[in-house]
This record gives sequence, structure tokens and C-alpha cells, in this order.
Amino acid sequence: MTGIDTPLPTYVWEPTTDSLAAKYGLPRESIVRFDVNTSPISPDLSDVLAGPFDPALCEYPPSDYAALVAAAADSYSVAPEEVLPTAGADEALDLIARASLREGSVAVVAAPTYAMYRIVSEQRGASVVAVPRLGPERGFGLDIPALAKAARNAALVWLCEPNNPTGAYEPPERIGELLALLEAGAARDRSPAPIVAVDEAYSEFVGRTVLPLRFDYARLVVVRTLSKAHALAGARVGFAIARPETLAPILSFRAPASVGTVSAALATAALRRPNLAAANVGAIGGQRARLIAQLSELGWRPYPSQANFILIRFSTPAAAESAAEALLRRGLVPRTFGPEHPFSDCLRLTVRSAPENDRLIEAARGIPA
Ligand SMILES: Cc1ncc(COP(=O)(O)O)c(C=O)c1O
Repeated sequence: MTGIDTPLPTYVWEPTTDSLAAKYGLPRESIVRFDVNTSPISPDLSDVLAGPFDPALCEYPPSDYAALVAAAADSYSVAPEEVLPTAGADEALDLIARASLREGSVAVVAAPTYAMYRIVSEQRGASVVAVPRLGPERGFGLDIPALAKAARNAALVWLCEPNNPTGAYEPPERIGELLALLEAGAARDRSPAPIVAVDEAYSEFVGRTVLPLRFDYARLVVVRTLSKAHALAGARVGFAIARPETLAPILSFRAPASVGTVSAALATAALRRPNLAAANVGAIGGQRARLIAQLSELGWRPYPSQANFILIRFSTPAAAESAAEALLRRGLVPRTFGPEHPFSDCLRLTVRSAPENDRLIEAARGIPA
């Protein structure tokens, strides 16, 4: 069964203040919003704010997020009509599931991977087919023939590049092979090809993207975030990026103004300063190499990583659990996976600053692998 084909009711956004000023030839400052039930009076928050309150915050953000969309389009080398700003990548994932799935649909994941794909798919009543990734000896790569086969009747395929939690990365050429197989299968079956959502939350750490593949495979949706390389997780800004015809149904599920004005401004500024993310990626890359080398010297078994985290295998699930406890007692919080997970004998550790990583290495000295 494929996804949703019937048109859906869509919220009609109010015109932006900029567009009204342009349309009626008026100065922007002269426009008064009598249409959106906001407050004309700024709150007195002088005790908590470092500077004066910006009255723009009394109003909703512009419904087209024009400045943010332009900055994202420039940064990702796509057209503005291909960019949908969301409250973090997680909102993009939810909107993609809403637009693509309904009761009885099939969604495919390459497991183990980020847990939200299964969650947002099952919340839509879809069943999730998990195609196991290749083993660690094959770099946790994608089993492309198995994915293509499983996706034959699927409405949606979720991919994560680089993958959380393995840290493995499949180059765009390999994703292109999968997309070609899906296209060929859909042509044979005379049915629409599945939407393929590639979550590139960590892609800045490898410096590559599948975005150019959208010209050959129109059903590709790429998800990006400002939470990782751009260091703005608290701002909650992400994007769904796709060809306009693919983005349209996703757009129809967007809540009005889910990205706040402050977040949009921070994200716009960060995207306009690519040197900041590049410096962060460089620093994290250096720290990642050091962590892997030093933890390995201590007998720990980290897997290679192309992201800002490292997956570490312990001898048994019990060893992973006691290592987690030992770290927690020192105030160092690892990501654990629980007894049912294929990585129950692993911990995932984020690469952090040099002094924070020093604390981790120091703690690891006393913890058996
Ligand atoms: C693969 C992946 N996608 C999405 C997210 C969520 O990103 P955001 O903070 O932009 O919602 C995460 C967060 O850890 C992630 O690992």
C-alpha cells in the first residue's frame, strides 16, 4: 500500500507584513496587524533580558520565514521553494510521516538507526519493516538489495546518513543505486516510487550530501538540522528539503509558526556564517580522533565514526551497563540502549570539548571494557 494520494485540508497562512507593505506600497513600519490577535504592548522583562525587548517579538514570525529560507537555500545550494523550515529535524520527520503514511502503509528502516523513524511511522498506523544493516566487519553498511526488496510495497523509506547510532556513512553514490532500484521497481509495478527520507542531521561532519540526487529521484526528501554542527540544539531549527511537488503534501501538515522568531534569527545568522560550523566540525573531528585513539589504548572498542559521537562495544551487555553506571557516578552521561536492543552491549558517547573528553578518558581508565 502506498501513501496518501487525496488532497488534504491545508491551513491558509496570513500574508506577511513585508508582502503587504510591498503590495500596497506602504512603509513596513506603517502596517498594523489587526488580523492575528497579538499584543500591542511589550512585556516588561528587563530583569531577565540583557538588552531592550524587541517589539517584533509581540508578533508572529513571518509565515514564509523568507530570511531563514533564503539563508538555508544558499547554504544547502537549493531553491527557496524546496525548503520547509521546521522546529528541529524531529518536526520534519513527523511531517514526512504524516504526509506519507496512513493506517496500513509500510515504512522501511535500515536498523539499527534513529528511533524516531519507527515511532513517527507507527503513530500514523503504518507497519515498520526493519532491514538489518550489514555487520560491523562491513562497516554497518546498507544492505541495498534487501532494502530495495523490502521497499517494493512501501510508502516511505527512512535512511540516516551518517547513521545514528553506528556513526557509519553510506556515500551518495550508493544511495543513488538504491534510488535507481526503487525507481525501476515502481516503473515495473506501475505504482508511485516510495518517498525516501534521508536524515542528514550529521552530514556536515562528512561534508557530503544526497541533495543533488533529487533531480533524478523526485521523491527524495532530505532532512537537515542546526542542532549538531551548527551548535543550536536549543533553538530547535531544522528543514525538510525536496522538490516543490514533493514538499507540497509535507507543507500541508505544517503547524502555523512552529519555529520561533528568536530561533529563526539565530539560525539565519548561523547559516550565513558557514565558517562557524566548519570550525566546529574541525574541532570535533580532532577530538573524535583523540577519543578513539585514547579509549582504544585503554582497551575500549570504539567503532569508526563519521559523526560527532562514537559507538563503543563492550564484552557483554552487563559490562556496558556497569560502564554506564560507573560513568554516571562521575557525572558523565552515556547513551545506553536497553536489553532488547541489538546494541545492548554498546554505549554511545558524544564527542565534546577537550576538557570534557579528558574527564571521560580519565574515568575510562578504571572501567573494564
Ligand atoms: C539522526 C537524527 N535525526 C534527528 C535528530 C533530531 O534533531 P533535532 O534536534 O534537529 O530535532 C537527531 C538528534 O539526535 C538525530 O540523531
